[in-house]
Amino acid sequence: MVLAVLVGLLAALLAGVAGAKDVIQFCKCTCGQNSTILELTPYALSHLPHASEPIDVDTLLPNVCMNCTRALCGIAEPDLCDGAAVGDEIMPLCFQRDSLQDELIVCGFLLLVVGLLAWTAVRSHVKPVAERLWNRYGYAGVAQNGAD
Ligand SMILES: *[C@@H]1O[C@H](CO)[C@@H](O)[C@H](O)[C@H]1NC(C)=O
Ligand SMILES: *[C@@H]1O[C@H](CO)[C@@H](O)[C@H](O)[C@H]1NC(C)=O
Repeated sequence: MVLAVLVGLLAALLAGVAGAKDVIQFCKCTCGQNSTILELTPYALSHLPHASEPIDVDTLLPNVCMNCTRALCGIAEPDLCDGAAVGDEIMPLCFQRDSLQDELIVCGFLLLVVGLLAWTAVRSHVKPVAERLWNRYGYAGVAQNGAD
């Protein structure tokens, strides 16, 4: 019964999270040994710490991975190739990741459910034992104390 409710809740929550899932694209710029990761969101791109010039986020393409280019890397991290071997050049790589927040919510909920199930299982095993012990020793102890 409890199990069925929990499983139902879990399914509903996972469905909700999956529906609202926010996938963030990242651009990894590599030059020799150096690399940096840019979050391809308008906010992150307009708050780059080392940008050599402001990035016009209004020109980002709908498929923002298409903007993960050598040019973007060069603006975002002008010193990326400092100290790199001659001939090393910027290699952009676009990848995506689910937003951390969604993952935390799902993980947190899964932990909660597992914890509750574990607690239920443990309790149903521990309770009879505890009651037996209590019946055998607990009352006797209390009775003795009362008699003293
Ligand atoms: C994104 O890519 C398009 C097409 O290449 C370009 O016109 C635009 O300036 C780029 N935007 C940024 C912010 O790099
Ligand atoms: C790249 O690496 C060189 C040394 O290999 C370093 O001097 C330089 O500051 C690095 N640039 C960035 C942006 O990390």
